[in-house]
Amino acid sequence: MCGIVGAVSERDVQGILLEGLRRLEYRGYDSAGMAVINGGPHAQRARELGKVSALAEAVEANPLNGHLGIAHTRWATHGEPSQLNAHPHMSGDGLAIVHNGIIENYQELRDELKADGFEFTSQTDTEVVAHLIQKNYREQGSLYDAVKSAIPRLRGAYALAVVHADEPDHLVVCREGSPLVIGVGIGENFIASDQLALLPVTDRFMFLEEGDIADIRKDRIEIHDREGTPVERETNRFEHGADSAEKGEYRHFMLKEIYEQPKVIKATMEGRVTDSRVLEQALGTEAANLLDNVRHVQIIACGTSYHAGMVARYWIEELAGVPCSVEVASEFRYRKHVIQPDTLFLCISQSGETADTLAALRQAKKAGFRAALAICNVPGSSLVRESDLVIMTQAGPEIGVASTKAFTTQLTALLIFTLALARHNGLSAEREADIVSALHQVPGQVSDILALNGGIEEMSRAFMDKFHSLFLGRGSQFPVAMEGALKLKEISYIHAEAYPAGELKHGPLALVDSEMPVVTVAPNNDLVEKLKSNLEEVRARGGELFVFADKSAGVKAEEGVHVMQLPPVHEITAPIVYTVPLQLLSYHVAVLKGTDVDQPRNLAKSVTVE
Ligand code: M6R
Repeated sequence: MCGIVGAVSERDVQGILLEGLRRLEYRGYDSAGMAVINGGPHAQRARELGKVSALAEAVEANPLNGHLGIAHTRWATHGEPSQLNAHPHMSGDGLAIVHNGIIENYQELRDELKADGFEFTSQTDTEVVAHLIQKNYREQGSLYDAVKSAIPRLRGAYALAVVHADEPDHLVVCREGSPLVIGVGIGENFIASDQLALLPVTDRFMFLEEGDIADIRKDRIEIHDREGTPVERETNRFEHGADSAEKGEYRHFMLKEIYEQPKVIKATMEGRVTDSRVLEQALGTEAANLLDNVRHVQIIACGTSYHAGMVARYWIEELAGVPCSVEVASEFRYRKHVIQPDTLFLCISQSGETADTLAALRQAKKAGFRAALAICNVPGSSLVRESDLVIMTQAGPEIGVASTKAFTTQLTALLIFTLALARHNGLSAEREADIVSALHQVPGQVSDILALNGGIEEMSRAFMDKFHSLFLGRGSQFPVAMEGALKLKEISYIHAEAYPAGELKHGPLALVDSEMPVVTVAPNNDLVEKLKSNLEEVRARGGELFVFADKSAGVKAEEGVHVMQLPPVHEITAPIVYTVPLQLLSYHVAVLKGTDVDQPRNLAKSVTVE
């Protein structure tokens, strides 16, 4: 969740570190800091409560010059957001460390180090690691050895970067459970939690594997695996272009990412579908054999990715006739399972680094599933590396904490997967061609929805002074309603709950009055008449309705019923298209309320801790 960046170079690193932090701020934004080594006996450090801009002001006033440095933007776990708890943490004047993750046995180590005479200035688990490495350093006289011998003492998840003033030409990094990437430069090298941080300085990256430790110098990178064996990690080029992580003309990343959807949905289809069919070889050479043998699908994910999985369940059962279960990873990992024979384990994750999803995958690999398939947006992420088969979404970097284009590209990838599975389970060529043709129309339909932005912005004004809201959908639109509710609560802080519309009278109808806006998605499918009855139930209680309805569905605007007419959409692809107006609605409500749209309070983009 926190962001780490580091650099060793011929040039001053302060600017590189600051820009890296700005790009990592989506990972955590309650405080930020950096430590720079300049050849003197002490590490220089600056830390500020609040956003990276506060740190930037501080180091502009008092620059930290030097050719080696580490920096951090924090999402608090142990200890409140404060300057004292901000990273880097130091031990003595010379050793500085930044950390992403959680050290579970920190209390035990803290007691031990206190007994050894170390004094603590923060409440964090990270300071414990600083002192532990310092203790080893005093005995061993080498930073690399000191970090290496500290690792077996740590329980939990971590990515660490450590520097020492006495060794001003390298940094030592290691990872276990939290991501860390090395940016390969020319005569300079870098590290970060995410390659996006380093795009201004390099486009070549090496992803560390679990248990790796690396010694990074400006002209040399040495990596050892968990067993201490020297290893080479492949160098990959970043494919999306350095400006893909810039806001450009848009006011917020979220808006830019909403508008990118026609392009990235198309990109996710490219090479995977012809005019009339899915190319299953594009899902991997093993795909045909696997799809022949899958009798059940278990989907695991968190948040928005979980909602994508819920939509996929409707598709998989309807089109492939294969039973499908969907569960949030944090629940799945802590309960006993009955695993049906030949069950495919399918993880969905934008980042590929979500701790609960990874933990579920690791359990599943031991538990007798047929294979693990990942749908993921980040090449080189832990999820991608640890899965048997991967379908990459082509959303490009998603920076806004609220997931938008990741969701619609996940749905695109899931529908392609479903069609491939369905073909192995008797889906006719005609039906496949019909759905593939509908899929080809989605980018254009999403563009049509984006053209309704002005009207949706107008609609959003009604939410400004509301504290609660209900989102309703039926069938595969129920997860779309859930996703709409998640977006609204996440960025506008308005309480939003989603219900299958048929459940309304079993409880939530009691909440409905004029202060409770009710948002509904109503494509023209065989449930629309039932949905209309549900809407009547709301109107009869004085509830104000905001309906996104197919033009031909016959939902009429009247007093208290605001209707946004949408173009006709195939019922299978409707969840992809109907998501977009809900994204825009939440965005505009948040902008009107003046919240921090891209970095909503208390959240971080990538949840790499439990
Ligand atoms: O990277 P992942 O897809 O695994 O992330 C899962 C959730 O943390 C994520 O979707 C979260 O719910 C978003 N902030 C929703 O907008």
